[in-house]
Amino acid sequence: MDKPKIYITRKLPKEIINNLEEYFIISMWQEEDVPVPRDVLLENVKDIDGLFCLLTEDINKELLDKAPNLKIISNMAVGYNNVDVEEAKKRNIIVTNTPGVLTETTADLTFTLLMTAARRIVEASSYLNEGNWKTWSPMQLTGQDIHGATLGIIGLGRIGEALVKRAKGFDMNIIYNNREPKPEKERELGIQYRDLNSLLKESDFVCILIPYSPNVYHLIGEKELSMMKSTAVLVNTARGGIVNESALYNALKNGVIWGAGLDVFEKEPVSLDHPLLTLKNVVTLPHIGSASINTRLKMAELASNNLIKVLSGEEPITPVS
Ligand code: DGY
Repeated sequence: MDKPKIYITRKLPKEIINNLEEYFIISMWQEEDVPVPRDVLLENVKDIDGLFCLLTEDINKELLDKAPNLKIISNMAVGYNNVDVEEAKKRNIIVTNTPGVLTETTADLTFTLLMTAARRIVEASSYLNEGNWKTWSPMQLTGQDIHGATLGIIGLGRIGEALVKRAKGFDMNIIYNNREPKPEKERELGIQYRDLNSLLKESDFVCILIPYSPNVYHLIGEKELSMMKSTAVLVNTARGGIVNESALYNALKNGVIWGAGLDVFEKEPVSLDHPLLTLKNVVTLPHIGSASINTRLKMAELASNNLIKVLSGEEPITPVS
């Protein structure tokens, strides 16, 4: 019997490909840093059984119409807002993601971003490198304390919980908001539930860790930012669309809040003339939450194994529900 055909939308490491080659006839976009052009993608999905894709590809009705044999969409990310899951379901196409393997790494980055923004690390390093360090002075480059501060986590999923562990090490007081309160977790982790407005008012640091859906589009806008402390820092390592960027820009520029750490943007890659990039009180990163070598390899492996399972007639390991 012929091997199933798959298309991979970005160049993957050799070890991952070697494994997939045992099972599949593979076509792959050969660039590492350039996404596959839409027309090339649409042309290549025509007769495939499986698709290995990234969050950079819009897997919508237009694409699914072009792929009548498709049985599985394996997204190498925990977030899957780039996939029209409903449309896939109608066609009995399984969608999988890569939860779990990136939890700790993304929590590491979230806490790193919190600390970097709080202690003005990027600004301080540029200050030195640009030759501005002439003396030591009492209030020079002073930031916000992390230890003992109140951390508000929006979204107590796996990554939120992993963030709690890090924050505990800094003696932070931790509150959270979630669609459903989690009383057991509250007891286990020593944290407390707040409604969103109370969380925004009480927190010194607000970290956004909810999955993206149209329901949370611009969840944090002008009104929400105005509830935050003027000394507060907002950190977003989830998805850009959750924060209204022009409201955030105004809040940061006018001292409504003190700082921000952003790993994600509404439109990625963010354009270099984006107003947020002109502010000193924002630390910006190019969506690197899960970007450790080990974790990215584990994500690619899990995405591959989902393809192997489904195209061998077995259940996927991590289906999107
Ligand atoms: C995800 O997995 O959804 C991240 O945003 C990329 O690791």
